[in-house]
Amino acid sequence: MTNHKKLWAGLVLCLSLLPAVARQSDPSKMNRFIDNLMSRMTLREKLGQLNLPVTGDIVTGQAKSSDVAAKIRKGDVGGLFNLKGVGKIREVQKVAVEQSRLRIPLLFGMDVIHGYETVFPIPLALSCTWDMQAIENAARVAAVECSADGINWTFSPMVDICRDPRWGRMAEGNGEDPFLGSAIARAMVKGYQGDDLSLNNTVMACVKHFALYGAAEAGRDYNTVDMSRWRMFNDYFPPYEAAAKAGAGSFMTSFNVVDGIPATANRWLLTDVLRERWGWNGFVVTDYTAISEMIAHGMGDLQQVSALALNAGTDMDMVADGFIGTLEKSLKEGKVTEQAIDRACRRVLEAKYKLGLFDDPYRYLDKKRAAGEIYTPRHRADARRTAAESFVLLKNDAQTLPLKKQGRIALIGPLADTRANMPGTWSVAAAFDRYKSLFQAMRDAVGDKAVVTYAKGSNITDDAQIEANGSMFGREIRDDRTVRQMIDEAVGVAREADVIVAAVGETSEMSGESSSRSDLSLPEAQRRLLQALKETGKPIVLVNFSGRATVMTWEAERFSTILNVWFGGSEAGDAICDVLFGDRVPSGKLTVTMPKSVGQIPLYYNHLNTGRPLESGKWFSKFRSNYLDIDNEPLFPFGYGLSYTSFKYTNLRLSANTMTADGTLTATVDVTNTGHYDADEIVQLYIRDLVGSVARPVKELKGFERVHLKRGETRTVSFTIDATLLKFYNVALDFVCEPGDFEVMVGPNSRDVQTVKFIMTGGVSK
Ligand code: BGC
Repeated sequence: MTNHKKLWAGLVLCLSLLPAVARQSDPSKMNRFIDNLMSRMTLREKLGQLNLPVTGDIVTGQAKSSDVAAKIRKGDVGGLFNLKGVGKIREVQKVAVEQSRLRIPLLFGMDVIHGYETVFPIPLALSCTWDMQAIENAARVAAVECSADGINWTFSPMVDICRDPRWGRMAEGNGEDPFLGSAIARAMVKGYQGDDLSLNNTVMACVKHFALYGAAEAGRDYNTVDMSRWRMFNDYFPPYEAAAKAGAGSFMTSFNVVDGIPATANRWLLTDVLRERWGWNGFVVTDYTAISEMIAHGMGDLQQVSALALNAGTDMDMVADGFIGTLEKSLKEGKVTEQAIDRACRRVLEAKYKLGLFDDPYRYLDKKRAAGEIYTPRHRADARRTAAESFVLLKNDAQTLPLKKQGRIALIGPLADTRANMPGTWSVAAAFDRYKSLFQAMRDAVGDKAVVTYAKGSNITDDAQIEANGSMFGREIRDDRTVRQMIDEAVGVAREADVIVAAVGETSEMSGESSSRSDLSLPEAQRRLLQALKETGKPIVLVNFSGRATVMTWEAERFSTILNVWFGGSEAGDAICDVLFGDRVPSGKLTVTMPKSVGQIPLYYNHLNTGRPLESGKWFSKFRSNYLDIDNEPLFPFGYGLSYTSFKYTNLRLSANTMTADGTLTATVDVTNTGHYDADEIVQLYIRDLVGSVARPVKELKGFERVHLKRGETRTVSFTIDATLLKFYNVALDFVCEPGDFEVMVGPNSRDVQTVKFIMTGGVSK
């Protein structure tokens, strides 16, 4: 036993007689422990637990003398975040448990959004796998790696539904659909937290951003949100609720207003809905400075907004210094109660208890684990396979893909030879120089079977300032050469080649936080390059990098082959090559609608009908709901994605034509692999409720299954339909299913479906 452990053992003597797992999972023991601890805490120490300050610059070996260490010693800090490295974290934890009066261990949080040093695809890409096992595993690997490096709390999953790709943070979420988003929320919480939060390789999840952050007006980050409660409950809340019910340990508030009140001070949201309605009992942390930002929202001064936040149900203050700085005064002035402070403090302490930190504050600080469990071959293989599953083949008209490993391949484009832009936004623990660029990966993939040549061809955009705005944190790839020089070089390389692979799109920082765009098409600089390449007459495979749904109308009209690769993580280079060369068959399907024009936004598949829907097949009709200058259809619909093989859907049938509220129905379809590759297909079930007490969407995803089919094989895929799948929130916000006619649709995407009908009999059921 180490010295620290001996010291610690004195404090928790009675607890140390019990086995760890039993201890963490016994609520009455936890309550007794926390009662005892809190009875010894001063008001200031309680407020310290509610404080999550900026980590500051902590250098290994210097932790004890850093500014933050002084605060920790005083008991003014509940946790820290985004501090990387087990050595540093151990030193800081040591200050907390050896030098603060009550020796309360710290939480160590981090934005481990899609992996740690082994980076998985950005969440939006992960969602395009529709593979819950792979997604749970991605979270599991992230938990293993970050916990090996000292982290015990991750600010993930981000489950904000987003229907507006102008918003850069679409990259961090799971797309536009609440049903799929809920399944992913559950898978991620399970992956991070496992079945026992106190194990040293599980971490506490933090569901964010509660709530509705993805509906920021005009797609501008941090902007106002305003929607009906009916829409909140039906379309935006389900993934948060799913994560709460999956037992996520913490929630993060969002920056936006909800019903006119910033989420961080919204009692209805944080207490009535999250705790009372959903029965959730974790702790709520604010987003970065969300308390002090309420001053700009016009909610009062720091003291006022801090009291509002606490009273609403916020437990921990990230960076604003509002709780630690003003709540003592507010207590004296009767603006907050001691019970409210105690309640928040208890919730934070409970989280620490559940993580096993009182049992062993060094539980996540094992240097051996850090040396052996990060960026391992197994984790990298998982990330590579998952990345390949996330790519969406949008077009392959001339069957240019897969490519053969032969001849001369020209790899051209601003994203072709950059390591730093492979992992994607919010990869805070990424180790760029360990990752391959696509150029490197392609040379490795072909070995001596083919020659890969390279030219950059263009900058991301002609405007250096716009490019700088969207390429920070070591991701800058600006080239000083002239447009002409770059294009000439590229065309020269292309002319010598048998095939061109054009790596174009966004840099990784053109999506993510504070990366809204008003124009979602490929910048002119890159279009000019593509046009010049097209004029060589060589076959072209367009590989599009993006952190959102982009507008690819121009490209789709001119190029026969488009593979959307998002940002695939640390192993993206190899994974892209796996798909380009046919070692893996693409199977990803869009979880966001790809519009034809920004003017169509918001465009999403599960919309309501209007009283004047456009007749099918038409693109304009006077006095119908449409545009003068563009049709209503997306370029690529939700759920869409091609394969190297082809699938045929036949014989959709139901086990019966009627169903009662307590009964079930089975929808069955035969899916045949009619092409030349063994491959996965994601079979999708949609339902439409034809008559309701409120207007119902034209279709809603209600089931999906990823199936593997060998060439020529037919599989019968079945979905069970029960009343839960038919329920929705009515005007009273009751979750009900109403009798009447329903359509059941099954297909390879939300557009190309077969339809059958049934009737639900009986009355409204809750
Ligand atoms: C983001 C959060 C993130 C936090 C901590 C904020 O700016 O909105 O998603 O978890 O910073 O890094």
